[in-house]
Amino acid sequence: MKVIVTENFAESCKLVARRIADIVKEKPNAKLGLATGGTCEDIYANLVKLYHNEKLDFSDIHTVNLDEYIGMEPTNPLSYRYYMNHNLFDHVNIDKANTYVAGGMGNVEDTIDEFRAKIYEDGAPDFQLLGIGVSGHIGFNEAGEQLHSLAHVEQLDTTTIEANARYFEDKNKVPTTAMTMGVGEICAANEVWLVASGASKVNAIKGLIMEPYVTPHNPSTVLKLHQDATVVIDKALAELVGYKG
Ligand code: PGA
Repeated sequence: MKVIVTENFAESCKLVARRIADIVKEKPNAKLGLATGGTCEDIYANLVKLYHNEKLDFSDIHTVNLDEYIGMEPTNPLSYRYYMNHNLFDHVNIDKANTYVAGGMGNVEDTIDEFRAKIYEDGAPDFQLLGIGVSGHIGFNEAGEQLHSLAHVEQLDTTTIEANARYFEDKNKVPTTAMTMGVGEICAANEVWLVASGASKVNAIKGLIMEPYVTPHNPSTVLKLHQDATVVIDKALAELVGYKG
């Protein structure tokens, strides 16, 4: 696992957007595993800039997203489908038919089957983008006694509900269940980039880059088993976790 320390969060976002843009150039029919959350908003804003400045072509790019809340209409501004359209897909020449975000409203078992199939359709993703939760979740794979390899329904951790409450009118409105890729599917991507910033992520990042264990109590630690995983943190977070390179 490679760790990159940047000057600040803005630099982290630029760096990751640069990597995605390069993949789009190198492989015009690449499949990208995408993520949502506050961390990724600026990455997508940078990617949209690169799309315009460098005339990137997304017309044959395919995407599959990590997760979606159960019970969320795709038109709801708090859904991850809406987030993806709003932050990226509406601003580049991607064919939305080539983008997949699990539907939050259908029959859950059918959607999970479809989700599992989409992850591997025409091959696993070339690239997977990840944020990280307060307790170390990736996608919505929460910390616990065991991890799921495949896409499944997850009960959200109280730390996740609290962190995501900022987007909802009140905490009681945050969905408590979501569909998420499993950790095996996340690690099936050819290369994985995880981006983190902010003091709330200190414990999760400590477990990921400072400790030698792979543990379901910090799901992000499965990335230690991946052959091409990169963790991008800024100087402020590196100092907080005591990472010196
Ligand atoms: P955040 O979420 O980017 O909003 O902090 C990351 C995550 O929960 O994976």
